[in-house]
Amino acid sequence: MNRHLISAADLSLHDAVAILDTAEELSRLAERPIPKLPTLRGRTVVNLFYEDSTRTRISFEAAAKRLSADVINFSAKGSSVAKGESLKDTALTLQAMGADAVVIRHHASGAPHRLAEWIRGSVVNAGDGTHEHPTQALLDAFTIRRRLGRLEGLRVAIVGDILHSRVARSNVWLLRTLGARVTLVAPPTLLPVAVDTWLCEVSYDFSSLLPFCDVVMMLRVQHERMSQAFFPSVREYSRRYGLDNDRLALLPSHAIVMHPGPMNRGVEIAADVADSPRSTIVEQVANGVAVRMAVLYLLLGGAGGGAASGDGAAERAVSAERSVSAERSAAEQRSMVAEPVKAVR
Ligand code: CP
Repeated sequence: MNRHLISAADLSLHDAVAILDTAEELSRLAERPIPKLPTLRGRTVVNLFYEDSTRTRISFEAAAKRLSADVINFSAKGSSVAKGESLKDTALTLQAMGADAVVIRHHASGAPHRLAEWIRGSVVNAGDGTHEHPTQALLDAFTIRRRLGRLEGLRVAIVGDILHSRVARSNVWLLRTLGARVTLVAPPTLLPVAVDTWLCEVSYDFSSLLPFCDVVMMLRVQHERMSQAFFPSVREYSRRYGLDNDRLALLPSHAIVMHPGPMNRGVEIAADVADSPRSTIVEQVANGVAVRMAVLYLLLGGAGGGAASGDGAAERAVSAERSVSAERSAAEQRSMVAEPVKAVR
């Protein structure tokens, strides 16, 4: 795996499966009385958030803490950013404080790429503008695989405001890598200009696609990124592209409904559908912690540092585990740590 996770497009099939398998192992930690491992003890993870977030910020914080990393939460609001400090100067300040990994959410597409040029630690993209949100795609893939048992050959419809969606772009890349077939469904005004170069299909007829879908992923209408009218009215949008009970009934019985959140209930998704047993929305949030633990674990190479898929990081991680064996039984550590290490060899 690379040192950074900036784009889902950078993940090979091997990397993606390694993250999902590692997350599967780490998710079992949540069943324990004390859901914590010492793996990243002494490492510092900085959450650098320039844009609002509930799920991603809390999830990365929980993930880092469950691996015993020190966590610094930085929010642009109330910081020296308000006095005009640049991203570069903020990044260098964080580096001086010893950040081993920086998790960044930024309103500007490409901000994580720039950050990766300035700091020595790992950079994890937690959502940059309308570009990418790779850990959301990973947790979505994890959720689909858990619910439906596989990804290969599945038909996934991603529906709604594709134009402003970093989730859609990352999911198209990752799902394609994992062997799923993706169809984007949106009004023409909410599709990117170059959508014909994306590795997916496009449809404008939501209802006729539904009987053939295994997964329907609804996207939020991002009013805050819209500077003009992209559809005649919210009512018209919901009628043509919203998922209500009538449309839900068109899906095959095994199909699931996803949404990355936050939702506009009653706009892209009816409240009944969001709360239905076929909805995985709450599971997606829970799975996000295990997936982000896996990403941090693999990028930081356990207690050894460096990329986890090489450079002896796996051995260093195992060795670090031995040093904490007085605190945890060997069997417990083997089940939660050695397996993920094995998965990326
Ligand atoms: N799905 C997602 O990124 O949610 P937040 O904006 O709450 O982090």
